[in-house]
Amino acid sequence: MDQEAGAAFAIAERARNTKPGLVAFKSDLGYAGVFQALPKDLIHVWFNDTGDSTAAYIHNGRTRFGYDVGGGYVLKVGTKQAFGDEVAISALLPKVAATIIGAGSTTLQVLLSGRPWEFRSHLVAWSMVEKVELLTDFGSRNQIHPQWSLYAFALLLHLSRHFALRDVSKTNLGIKPGLSAATPMLCFFDLADWHFEGLNAGSWFPKYSLRSFIETLRCVCDVTPLEPYLRRQAVVPCLNDIIAVLPAALKANLEIQMVLMNGRLSDWAHLAALANQ
Ligand SMILES: Nc1ncnc2c1ncn2[C@@H]1O[C@H](COP(=O)(O)OP(=O)(O)O)[C@@H](O)[C@H]1O
Ligand SMILES: [Mg+2]
Repeated sequence: MDQEAGAAFAIAERARNTKPGLVAFKSDLGYAGVFQALPKDLIHVWFNDTGDSTAAYIHNGRTRFGYDVGGGYVLKVGTKQAFGDEVAISALLPKVAATIIGAGSTTLQVLLSGRPWEFRSHLVAWSMVEKVELLTDFGSRNQIHPQWSLYAFALLLHLSRHFALRDVSKTNLGIKPGLSAATPMLCFFDLADWHFEGLNAGSWFPKYSLRSFIETLRCVCDVTPLEPYLRRQAVVPCLNDIIAVLPAALKANLEIQMVLMNGRLSDWAHLAALANQ
């Protein structure tokens, strides 16, 4: 057992005394961690440089587990399938998605007993992601611009021209700082079920996602400015009409997010290849 794994396992042993079902993990990013299997309320992470620390379990989403590992990052762990094309799509949408700083797969070893060491191994996927504030938490602390819902809807429409958007509900929406606290940028951090549909594919609203999206907006801001647009069928004219009436501070968000979304054609081709697999 090398030194790094030895230290991780020592933590596992220590933690095992208080909590059963621990998991040791060593990633190719150069840190090793030990975390608890079900019920995942704590994760014990050991970093090469900063020593070990206990990270809080945030929440399990539909298929993955999120842990706050400190330093402004969240570690997500799940099966490879549970990650979908999230890494590739996020890389194309740097101002729209929470930034993923590393991702890979690793063997997760569930520690069954110590001396003799007994493990059960599972192959899992993981990603280390910039931690963002949930939109609903932000909305409860800040007064959001009265027309912010128009901006958020315009961003959704723009994304829907390229992607089938799934899971755009309360538990998957965050914010990135915009020009002011009243005009944050909407940010998505769960893109695991999104599918690339083509460069300019969308011609309808993503109806199945729309209701949960609007419900979330309703928790944080006034959605009445949206009413004239909600029943319209064609995305592009509707988007253009909203952009025409958006106040400058909100339009600035959209411009930053949409410009960067255009990416390089080769990146889109890569995504299309993934989608056709
Ligand atoms: N970048 C992030 N910043 C803050 N919290 C996050 C972030 N990513 C995930 N989380 C938390 O972890 C939970 C699970 O992550 P999510 O990506 O939604 O997984 P799932 O695909 O299983 O729904 C989220 O509901 C959220 O509470
Ligand atoms: Mg989720």
